[in-house]
Amino acid sequence: MNHFREQFPIFNTISDPFVYFDNASTTQTPITVIDAMSRYYTHDRSNVHRALYPLSLNISDRFEHARSKVQQFIGARCPQEIVFTKGTTESINLVAASLSENYFQENDEIIVSLLEHHSNIVPWQVIAKRNKLNLRYLTVSETGDLSMEELEKLISPRTKLVAVTHVSNSLGSVNPIHEIIQMVKKRNCLVLIDAAQSIAHIPIQVKELNCDFLVFSGHKMYGPTGIGVLYGKEEILREMHPYQTGGNQIRSVDVQQTIFADLPSRFEAGTPNIAGVLGLEAAVNFITSYDPAEIIQYEYELTNMLESRLSEIPFVNIIGKPKHRSSILSFTVENCHPTDVALLLGEKGICLRSGYHCNEPLMNVLSSEGIIRVSLAPYNNADEIRYFCEKLIWARNLLHRNKNDIPSKSKI
Ligand code: ALA
Repeated sequence: MNHFREQFPIFNTISDPFVYFDNASTTQTPITVIDAMSRYYTHDRSNVHRALYPLSLNISDRFEHARSKVQQFIGARCPQEIVFTKGTTESINLVAASLSENYFQENDEIIVSLLEHHSNIVPWQVIAKRNKLNLRYLTVSETGDLSMEELEKLISPRTKLVAVTHVSNSLGSVNPIHEIIQMVKKRNCLVLIDAAQSIAHIPIQVKELNCDFLVFSGHKMYGPTGIGVLYGKEEILREMHPYQTGGNQIRSVDVQQTIFADLPSRFEAGTPNIAGVLGLEAAVNFITSYDPAEIIQYEYELTNMLESRLSEIPFVNIIGKPKHRSSILSFTVENCHPTDVALLLGEKGICLRSGYHCNEPLMNVLSSEGIIRVSLAPYNNADEIRYFCEKLIWARNLLHRNKNDIPSKSKI
């Protein structure tokens, strides 16, 4: 994967050691994505969908070309099914706010799992409170897996929507979304898949999956921050109310009322993130220039190496052992606070995240004061894992020695 790594200028601009293990938080940016955004600002800057001069007509075409590219990437039926948003969080908020207008009735139920990121819990909590709905949780086993039997029992005649993540951002569990979607559709509910942590790692075809909504962010797939996607089935999006209103999303306005534009504009009020959309298209081109099977195999081998190295270190406790793991692995270090470990590793150039990972309901179940997370991408390598394990042992020894140096109260 040397060729993959070479596409990312940051590895030449930050001096060594620089070990970037925080890819679940945000990935790095390849040169083609940086160039696409820079080209817009240096050569093509103008607004979309408004003016008739060539610069603007050209960029409007390019913007819609990017939409078609995303459509093909995830196998949607038509470009109208692709709505550009700020990211996964906004996409979920859009669906929740919009469905709360005319889809849910009092006492209806929404199901989410305990593996969800806050962005797939809080918007549902808010509308559940406002519309008097019940939010129900699918539990997680010690291994970090969801149970299909439990989901089957949880879905009731009042269930209207099930929202689950494809890959857990803290435990790395890859959920069986094919089976989940099949089960939910049999019971006539809507199903939303949070693909934020899978879109860069696992090929996704929404038509085959048959989910109603799928959401993801550009910045976790080598694209820019502040851009994301809501995929929705055309017939469902057509029935949904706009989430935000204003310019660019109307067909006509008089002083009394507004007729909203057709899909997808009706969900894209205001000037969009044009550079972000062009950067996202470049990110799609970047990902699709690699063989997905090769990426999956490489990440699998690297994650296995990480797991086996960490399990050889006696004071490390790996959290969960899901049936299928993506390239995310979390752990705790006995008698050390995760923040202290992460701070020390940061000093050695190792970038990773510690704490609750926007997963507080899950952390409460794990009764954890936080965990340390390594999340890998194809630009990572075996040398980085060896270096990381060495520095982890160093950090633990340092923290342990310092702890033993502090006199206990009885000795003071
Ligand atoms: N969702 C991102 C993470 O898991 C920020 O770190």
